[in-house]
Amino acid sequence: MPMIPLSVMEEIKARSPIEDVVSRYVSLKRAGSNLTASCPFHSERTPSFVVFPATQSFYCFGCGAGGDVISFLMRIENLEYPDAVRELAERCGVSIPESGGHEEQGVSRKRLYELNREAARFYRDNLFDEKKGAAARRYLAERGLTSAIVKRFGLGFAPDDFSMSDTMRAKGFTDDELVAAFLCKRSERTGRPYDLFRGRVMFPIIDTSGRVIAFGGRVMGDGVPKYLNSSDTPVFKKSRNLFALNYAKSSSAEEMILCEGYMDVIALHAAGVENAVATLGTALTDEQARIIAKYTKRVVLCYDSDDAGQRADSRALELLGAVGLDVRVLKLKGAKDPDEFIKKFGVDAFRDALSGSSSKFRYTMDKVLSKYDVSSDEDKIRAMREINEYIAGFGSEVEREIYIGQASDKLGISRDSIKNDVSLIIRKKRRSDKRSEAVEIARDAAGFGDRVNRDKLTHLRSASCEETVLGMLAAYPEYIKEVSSGGALSLSPEDFTTEFGRRAFETMLRIYGETGGFDIALLSAELTQDEVSRITKLAVSRDKLDNGHEVFAENVRALKDEKRKQQSKTDDAFEAIMRLREKNQAENENEE
Ligand code: GTP
Ligand code: MN
Repeated sequence: MPMIPLSVMEEIKARSPIEDVVSRYVSLKRAGSNLTASCPFHSERTPSFVVFPATQSFYCFGCGAGGDVISFLMRIENLEYPDAVRELAERCGVSIPESGGHEEQGVSRKRLYELNREAARFYRDNLFDEKKGAAARRYLAERGLTSAIVKRFGLGFAPDDFSMSDTMRAKGFTDDELVAAFLCKRSERTGRPYDLFRGRVMFPIIDTSGRVIAFGGRVMGDGVPKYLNSSDTPVFKKSRNLFALNYAKSSSAEEMILCEGYMDVIALHAAGVENAVATLGTALTDEQARIIAKYTKRVVLCYDSDDAGQRADSRALELLGAVGLDVRVLKLKGAKDPDEFIKKFGVDAFRDALSGSSSKFRYTMDKVLSKYDVSSDEDKIRAMREINEYIAGFGSEVEREIYIGQASDKLGISRDSIKNDVSLIIRKKRRSDKRSEAVEIARDAAGFGDRVNRDKLTHLRSASCEETVLGMLAAYPEYIKEVSSGGALSLSPEDFTTEFGRRAFETMLRIYGETGGFDIALLSAELTQDEVSRITKLAVSRDKLDNGHEVFAENVRALKDEKRKQQSKTDDAFEAIMRLREKNQAENENEE
């Protein structure tokens, strides 16, 4: 993508204060002139994510993620740089001048949303077409769906031919757009795209803004594969979306029900249980857990009662617990999934089961106990040890108290002795955490495992000067002007010793050359997210030094000195080798 003019970028950023953009995703608390939150990019209990309104940047002291409003959007929405810029521009109503070259970057997201909406309309019209949709309507009716619920979920029917793509082409959509939306695939033989969904009942996936972003298609009857689901596209990440969240989000304040299948969710909604969602044919992800946590406090897991469903439970429990949700598990007896359960026993029975769903702790305790024979003392001790470990893992004292009580009641062991054991485990864990933290700090200081700047370990002094310089250049763009205008502090990429430093500096110079200014946002187009995070960190920590320019000048000189030393070391080594060769040659000649 051609570089966006700095003036446009400034306009976009001026209209998108980072604190406003971030607060759409996490709840920010004021801390002095900055704002903090629990980091949306890793799981944590104490907030280490900081937004700096003064510099319009963010940095997480826990996981090292950092950058400006654009890099934030890239990370949180999983977007590529140009898409993040466009998204932000769209949100704040700035238009980006289009220059020819960007089409090959792919198709526009806006067009894909339009295409998906048109395709959903096409499938729906087919379902309600007297003749073409008859069999599909019969199938849905047999599965107990009224036409009201079919319409509410926008279900459709993809005929067993290629009329969807023909219709979309007639509406002006291109082959590239059809393929990018995962509605078509190119034939290996002819290269011509053909319809992927054929002879299937169609379930549109709709995001929380009401846009159609993908489809699931089910065969009617026993064909294989049972479901065909869209792969990821520029407007769809299956790891970041949930089926029916568009409806469930408004009725989930207290509790959300998480199922496995589209049909389960639809059956629940049809029965008036409107806080049900499902994953999109894959296991629950960390990102989905965080999304759920934005809308609710408590989740009831309602997976299928087969083995696969039960295995998925424990992983989901872990992920949902890690983002601070209270999780319960609902085990349905006498039916393989919620859909079947409601058909067999009715929605009241489902609600009864729901109110008795066991808490995350009870579920885990039962699971541990089922592994042991608690009538034997040794086994009981082992089980207790495992349960104590689990209780010790809870950050809150109140939670621990409650679970200690439950474990005590269940196993007939006094609260005090459980409490003692739990405290012991916590103390031990703290000590070892401190130790590994110390190791981490020592490592960090020595540059071990620095994935961003791989040369740091072998060139510690250079790397440290370079980091100060890069951070200050990013924080004070007027310094870029100074180093590039040939004065006493002039710098060139060759003055940098580490590969990262050189590349980062080159990029800054180029941005300055092309735009006459600098903005961390523009780095995102050329450097990796980790690299942008690093430079943000450096800028954040070098900001607001009293004697800023002095420090800067000192480091520029030191950086060049270091490089000269490196150079002369190399020169010395080179000369030594040359002398050795001459000597050898002379000796060889003498021998002849
Ligand atoms: P019904 O059998 O129609 O009741 O479907 P269901 O909604 O109960 O789905 P099921 O529990 O069988 O599967 C759960 C989810 O996994 C579905 O909603 C699909 O998203 C996904 N899934 C199921 N079968 C397949 C398949 O064959 N391929 C793919 N890619 N996904 C599938
Ligand atoms: Mn089912």
